[in-house]
Amino acid sequence: MPDLQAAIAAAYDARGLPTAPEQVIVTPGALAATAVVGTALAGPRDKVLVESPTYPNAVRALRAGGGRIAAIPLDPSGWDLDAVDAALARHAPRLVHVMPDFHNPTGLVLSERERASYGRMLARHGATAVVDEAHHLLGLDDLDSTAAPTPFAAHAKDAICVGSASKSVWGGLRMGWIRAPHALVDRLTRARVGLDLGVPVLEQLVLTRLLQGDLDGVVRAQRERLREQRDALAGALTERLPDWTFRMPAGGMALWCRLPVAAATALSVEAERHGVLLAPGPSFAPEGGLDRYVRLPYAVAAPLLVEAVDRIADAWAVVGAGGARATGGTAPVLVA
Ligand SMILES: Cc1ncc(COP(=O)(O)O)c(C=O)c1O
Repeated sequence: MPDLQAAIAAAYDARGLPTAPEQVIVTPGALAATAVVGTALAGPRDKVLVESPTYPNAVRALRAGGGRIAAIPLDPSGWDLDAVDAALARHAPRLVHVMPDFHNPTGLVLSERERASYGRMLARHGATAVVDEAHHLLGLDDLDSTAAPTPFAAHAKDAICVGSASKSVWGGLRMGWIRAPHALVDRLTRARVGLDLGVPVLEQLVLTRLLQGDLDGVVRAQRERLREQRDALAGALTERLPDWTFRMPAGGMALWCRLPVAAATALSVEAERHGVLLAPGPSFAPEGGLDRYVRLPYAVAAPLLVEAVDRIADAWAVVGAGGARATGGTAPVLVA
């Protein structure tokens, strides 16, 4: 719907990224948007660089056109831009998937300076960024502030942004979008019609109304709820699992926890016996590894999080004590 394209474009304008409505393609979610980009732009001869850890469904979506995946390690304390530069030189990728705003699963934010140098590197290597901004409105530290770094695409003019309503508004509003340079819109649209033909009009009307009205109020309520849940989860972990470490994320929806030993897969198998489904680090590692990490989302109510941590601590007591019951097997966890 033209009104929705215009409202999404206006939101980019307000963030400092001038956007025309025809640069916006509305999709059934950020994941669907990512699959359109993978299908249109990364064929079997193309490399696609992703971060490690990363959001695993995005990796599958980016592979939709047959593109080959390579990973750039992301340090839990931040991006290593020398490693990015080396990976760009080594792989000469067509696409580079980046989550600069509350990266999933680490919650990291790429600084303004890093965005500028990352953008210059991409230009030098002729690679196109796919910027996943699904979490960008979920800043949790200062609820009165909507200040955020300028969009990554302001530093990388060929970048393609994907956005979502499902994190900032409601998980039931299955809508997302692509913001692409003019020159790519036609190609993306052609690829898209092989995947789906449109988003229900009712949902489009709802999102249009929100974007033209009280989106800030809705997002603020989400941020308040997530902040309370993040703090409850962090508090319970500090109390029950003091030898686990994590960096308190400034936003997003999960804690990325480092275990004292590499046993996340074993832990997730044992945790399931205690009624908790955990996503172990290797689920987020496109090239394997990261068994020392576990992602704990704080998307559910605080009392449930506290109970979950109690059960995880019980499971950890089994794994930490030798893991006899938890050896073998892979955790059957589906990361949503
Ligand atoms: C980083 C990231 N990108 C994309 C998605 C998918 O978004 P959507 O629900 O709009 O398809 C998610 C969902 O968890 C996500 O965390």
